[in-house]
Amino acid sequence: MRQSSLVVVANRLPIDDSVAPDGACEWRRSPGGLVSALHPLLRQTPATWVGWAGGTGPAPSLADVDGVRMHTVPLTAEDVRDHYEGFANATLWPLYHDAVEQPVYHRRWWEAYQRVNRRFAEAAADAAEPGAVVWVQDYHLQLVPGLLRELRPDLRIGFFLHVPFPPPELFMQLPRRAELLRGMLGADLIGFQRAQAAHNFAQLVAHVLDVPADDRRIALDGREVRIGAFPVSIDTTEMAALATRPDVVARAARLRRDLGDPTHVILSVDRMDYTKGIEQRLKAYSELIADGHVKVRDTVLVQVAVPSRERVAQYQVLRDRVEREVGRINGEFGRVGEPAIHYLTQPFDRAELAALYRMADIMAVTPLRDGMNLVAKEYVAARVDDTGALLLSEFAGSAAELPEAFLVNPHDLDGLKLTLMDALQADPADLTGRMRAMRAHLSRHDIHAWARSYLAALDSSGSLLTRVTTP
Ligand code: ADP
Ligand code: G6P
Repeated sequence: MRQSSLVVVANRLPIDDSVAPDGACEWRRSPGGLVSALHPLLRQTPATWVGWAGGTGPAPSLADVDGVRMHTVPLTAEDVRDHYEGFANATLWPLYHDAVEQPVYHRRWWEAYQRVNRRFAEAAADAAEPGAVVWVQDYHLQLVPGLLRELRPDLRIGFFLHVPFPPPELFMQLPRRAELLRGMLGADLIGFQRAQAAHNFAQLVAHVLDVPADDRRIALDGREVRIGAFPVSIDTTEMAALATRPDVVARAARLRRDLGDPTHVILSVDRMDYTKGIEQRLKAYSELIADGHVKVRDTVLVQVAVPSRERVAQYQVLRDRVEREVGRINGEFGRVGEPAIHYLTQPFDRAELAALYRMADIMAVTPLRDGMNLVAKEYVAARVDDTGALLLSEFAGSAAELPEAFLVNPHDLDGLKLTLMDALQADPADLTGRMRAMRAHLSRHDIHAWARSYLAALDSSGSLLTRVTTP
């Protein structure tokens, strides 16, 4: 077994299997913020990524991707049902996102969570060379830091949570709250998207475990665990380069022509998830048409909603509701050859996404709660000519970094409609000023800066840092 000095452990590998038009199985980058953040980073260092390849049964053996070793962890159908679809995505995901859907608790799911976390910890222990840095990602694997420390006390262990960490009154619902906190505390450094999340965590550790904790340090079992905010970002340079490629620029123009050259194109790109506020956005848009503020011929909405977690009940219900609503709006307000909403559920490659971003005058990102939201950042990075407007929910982590966006409370339908109209009618000079400021922020705070700040805090020797963050 080849071992690495940097091991990333995430539930999902950065690639997904899909079937090519000729029927062959091919691998492509998985949609989702975690993969978008880490994939560009690891291309620069000999690292191993420990994760699940998406299927069930024996783990497929995968070739390296851009020099990164893929170490697959097998999951059985029962593991997928009870760990991934159950405890991770029907208990923790809704609970951590303000319980916008009711979290579900089942004792059997907890057993699967423990079992799968142990399997990931063992895989990471095998893949790490002596003294390596192991960076564990996200809510699926909160027990891994603690389990890994027992197996390999020589390692430097980091944990990063890509989703929000909830306020104590919500987290306290969890039947296994103490074990989850202890699991995370196996890390040397626990990173969150927002300072508020680190504060919530410290409060819970003090309250549930009766351990002294402040928003930066926790002393436990003779060790010091550091906590802090490290807002994740994107490969800004890569997105800007894609958006200036002649074929991408031509594709954006073509897409716009295909839409009938409307005055305004509004775009949304989400995983089909109830946290993303898709229904609120559709309602705002359809009311604007019904009120006569917006004409379908002038202002079209392109909604990309790639299906996600399709066997989880709440996701099935959401997809049905969204598709019914899109059908209703198009039926009521569209005309032959002129739908009000262009609705796409396909995954796209990065160049096609860049073309969509370049095509859109307004990017509507309206989650009810989101750890960060990288789509908002990708749109800004793609607007290399400083045009376009970003409509952004206050409840996305990215809103704290992009105050020049048109900020909205997606629960406030009238406010959402008014702000969308403001964005549609804004003075181009105002838009340029806002976009320039946001682009300047993202050029400094990109994915490399994120990794630099996290790894500098985790790896005091600094040797790893130099390798990972030197382009
Ligand atoms: P989340 O992490 O909840 O999925 P983010 O907005 O942070 O939300 O990240 C979503 C990532 O997935 C972005 O990098 C985006 O470009 C990518 N993505 C979203 N929709 C698609 C799609 N249809 N095809 C390919 N990638 C997509
Ligand atoms: C969010 C989560 C990631 C997850 C991604 C896609 O970004 O924070 O951990 O990988 O969504 O979701 P999926 O269930 O397809 O892995």
